[in-house]
Amino acid sequence: MLPALRIATCRAAARRGPASAITFQAARAGSTWANVPQGPPAILGITEAFKADSFEKKINLGVGAYRDDQGKPYVLPSVRAAEDKIVAKRLNKEYLGITGLPEFTKAAAELAYGKGSSALERLVITQSISGTGALRIAAAFLARFYPGDKTIYIPTPSWANHKAVFNDSGLKVEQYRYYDKNTIGLDFEGMLADIKAAPKGSMFLFHACAHNPTGVDPTPEQWKEISNAVKAQGHYAFFDMAYQGFASGDTNKDAFAVRHFVEQGHDICLAQSFAKNMGLYGERVGAFSILASSPEEKKRIESQIKILIRPLYSNPPLHGARIASEILNDPALNKQWLGEVKGMADRIISMRALLKENLEKLGSTHDWSHITKQIGMFAYTGLDAASMEKLAKEHSVYATKDGRISVAGITTDNVGRLAEAIYKVKG
Ligand SMILES: Cc1ncc(COP(=O)(O)O)c(C=O)c1O
Repeated sequence: MLPALRIATCRAAARRGPASAITFQAARAGSTWANVPQGPPAILGITEAFKADSFEKKINLGVGAYRDDQGKPYVLPSVRAAEDKIVAKRLNKEYLGITGLPEFTKAAAELAYGKGSSALERLVITQSISGTGALRIAAAFLARFYPGDKTIYIPTPSWANHKAVFNDSGLKVEQYRYYDKNTIGLDFEGMLADIKAAPKGSMFLFHACAHNPTGVDPTPEQWKEISNAVKAQGHYAFFDMAYQGFASGDTNKDAFAVRHFVEQGHDICLAQSFAKNMGLYGERVGAFSILASSPEEKKRIESQIKILIRPLYSNPPLHGARIASEILNDPALNKQWLGEVKGMADRIISMRALLKENLEKLGSTHDWSHITKQIGMFAYTGLDAASMEKLAKEHSVYATKDGRISVAGITTDNVGRLAEAIYKVKG
């Protein structure tokens, strides 16, 4: 349309006033986006249902973020202190390099692999948009350069976004057995069998600790066997570590699988998130690292990681990385943070125990030991979809239909009511 004609049309529409809505609707029929299909509702459905419920004592166990014992979001005091230090420095806001803040990535690598690890010299690391961004960079790199079949094996079940991230990056996704519905624990035999049955040189994704959604982790002994099986098949191990420290309260203990694999000679890659263990959810702080076999290979990989990131988002955000860097590099703040991580983990562990205790006190004859055996933010209750629906409709307790509850949403105040609700539904 000629500019003059467009102005005249707009003026005419303006004179027509409210009736111009009709013109808008008519225009929509032939819209460029007329063929965009409606997507399925997102997981946020739980939060919406929770918000719409007017019952005062409703409980939301759907959220994937830590809550304190008052059910409130928690900003770690070490994070507040780090922010104060950063503000006092009056730093500028220039761009970071493509791979992020070097003080942060160096410290993040030490946290994951351990200070003094031989891996530190060999790894390529880049800051990422939290754990999801790390997974995305990893998947894009694997899709472009992995020499074998571009299929990645993930556990059944896995964090829902794994499949989406990997598929969208061009990888094919297959699943290996992980969770045993009957024992509400690990299907270790099934997992090993699937690792052994996969074509040699396959890619395998492992949750380093605090498996989401089940809360079921292999023991150190089982990890050793998994490492052997992965090695025997010449598979490639990729670790997602979104909960380091948050699971057991000890950052070293939670890094066992990652460090063991490295010691055993696996040149792994790793996605790290600081969302949960530093409570930096919205700051989007993470790292992706990949082990190279020589200095020359390291250079080549790093060049390609930069080539991948540049057209994605140019360079990562600054503020959250500065916070994490202060916490990881300042000895006093680091000590304080480790105490706070343990505090969060301990609260979750004690809520698990309280829930089990309350259920037993009510006279439940079911074995609830899986609640305390599992680890991390989530518990797989073993309740089916119908029971979860009853929990929501009849007791105003909201969680995902797969029976997963966020233990972070349990408090000393609501645990009694929660146990009663579960008891009424399940017995
Ligand atoms: C297993 C797992 N991986 C990765 C993430 C990524 O989270 P974020 O992108 O917030 O760091 C999550 C978050 O819930 C998770 O549970």
